[in-house]
Amino acid sequence: MLERYRQASPNSSQLWIRAQKVFCGGVNHNIRIFGLNSCQAHPPFMHRGEGSHIWDVDGNEYIDYWMTHYCMILGHNSPQIHQALEQRLREGWHLGALNEDQVIFAEKIQEAIPELEKMRFCTTGSESTMYATRLARLFTGRKLVAKAWGGWHGGNDALGYHLKYPYTDDPYYNGVSFDYNDMRSVDTLMKKHGKQLAALVIEPVLGAGGGIEPDSEFLPYLREETEARDILLIFDEIITGFRLCYGSAGIQLYGVKPDLQTHGKVLAGGLPIGVYGGREDVMALAVPGAPGGRWVGGGTFSSHPLTMTAGLTTLEVLKSYKEKYVTLNQRGDQLRRQINNVLERANANERAMGKGSILFIHSLKEPLKEGPITAGKLGKVFDIEKTNVFQSRLLEEGVFGYHGLGVVSFVHTEDDFSKTLNAIENVVTTGTNSVKH
Ligand SMILES: Cc1ncc(COP(=O)(O)O)c(C=O)c1O
Repeated sequence: MLERYRQASPNSSQLWIRAQKVFCGGVNHNIRIFGLNSCQAHPPFMHRGEGSHIWDVDGNEYIDYWMTHYCMILGHNSPQIHQALEQRLREGWHLGALNEDQVIFAEKIQEAIPELEKMRFCTTGSESTMYATRLARLFTGRKLVAKAWGGWHGGNDALGYHLKYPYTDDPYYNGVSFDYNDMRSVDTLMKKHGKQLAALVIEPVLGAGGGIEPDSEFLPYLREETEARDILLIFDEIITGFRLCYGSAGIQLYGVKPDLQTHGKVLAGGLPIGVYGGREDVMALAVPGAPGGRWVGGGTFSSHPLTMTAGLTTLEVLKSYKEKYVTLNQRGDQLRRQINNVLERANANERAMGKGSILFIHSLKEPLKEGPITAGKLGKVFDIEKTNVFQSRLLEEGVFGYHGLGVVSFVHTEDDFSKTLNAIENVVTTGTNSVKH
C-alpha cells in the first residue's frame, strides 16, 4: 500500500530511519505518526508552508487541513505575522522580563472575552489546563476532576486519562469521566462523585474525541449541575476559541458562561501559547503570596515576545474578520456536506463530522444511529485502523491531515475543496479500506 507515496518520498524515508534512532517511537508528538503506522510506511517530514498548502522534504505539495494542529486560521506564513515577527527578531527575541506586547495582547483577548476577568499566559495548552485544574482544586479544596471520555486536554497528569476508546482505566490517573452529550452519564457521575469534584472540564465542541457538537441542552445542563454543587466548570477552548467565532465558542455560540477557560492554538498564529483565566476570585489564588494560594505559573518561555507579537497581530487581523467567521463556518459546513455526499454515493463507511471550520472524517464499523451523537456511541463504531488507512491514502492523493483531517482556514480556496473532494472520491472508489455498509 502507498507505493506511489513511498517512491515519491525518499528523503522522508531516510529521515524517518534516523528519527527512530534518537526519538522514542521516532516522534515528539504521537499524533505525527498517526495514519502511516497502519500502512507500514514512513511519515512525511514537512519543510515549507504557504497559505493552505505545505511541501515535504521531497518537494511534494499537499493541501493542508492539519494546519499546524489547528493553529493556522490565517494560513501558513501569513504575511502580517511574518512581518511583525521579523521586526521583533531585530530587537532581540526574548529578554526574560515583562514586555509591552503581552499587555496589549491580553487587553485584546479580554476585549473579545470580558469573562476572562483575569488571565495568565503560559507556553502550551497542556500547561494551561493543568493550571486551571490546580486553581479549581485550590479554590474548592477538593481533589477530583471530571472530563469527557475521549476529551484531549494535553499531556498533563491532571487530565491525561480516558483518551481513546475503549477508554480503559489507567491506575496512574485519579480522575473520572462522563460521556459527552449524555446527560444520564453526567447524572450518574454527579450522584457518585458530585461532592468530591473540584472541576468539570469540557471542550464546547469535542475535538480529538470525534468532532462532536453539543446537543442544545448539554452545556446548559453541565452549567446547572456544576453550579448546584459548587463545582467549577472549565471550558477548554484550545481548539474552539477564536476558531468558531472571534472569542469564546462556549459563551458566544452556546450561551454558557464557565468559571474558568483555557485558550491556545489559533490565538498566537502558530507560536507556542496557552492561556488560562476567568473568575477573578478564583484567579486571585495565582497572585503571589495569596492566602490559600499556591505556586501557579512560572515558565521561562511564558509571554515569549515572539508569541506575544504573533498573537496580537493575529487578533488584529481576526478582529477585522469578525463577519468572515460566519462565512468560514458556512464553508466548513458545506464542505462536510459535500464530503458526506461523495462518501454516501460511494457507499463508503467514512463520515465527515465537526462543526463550522472543524472537519474530521471517521471510518465507522456501522452507521451512527439516530439521536444525539455521544462520545460513547461514536467510540463504539469508530474504526481507528481504517481511519488511519483512509487518511494515509488521502496523503498519497495530496491531502494532508492527522486524526481524521483537521480544519478549514480563511485561506483555503474553492479549488482546494474541489481537489479534496476528488481525492476523497479516488480513495473511496479505488480503495481497499472502504468496507461497504
Ligand atoms: C482541546 C485541547 N486542549 C489542550 C490541548 C493541549 O495543547 P498543547 O498541545 O498546546 O499542549 C489540545 C491540543 O491538541 C487540545 O486540542
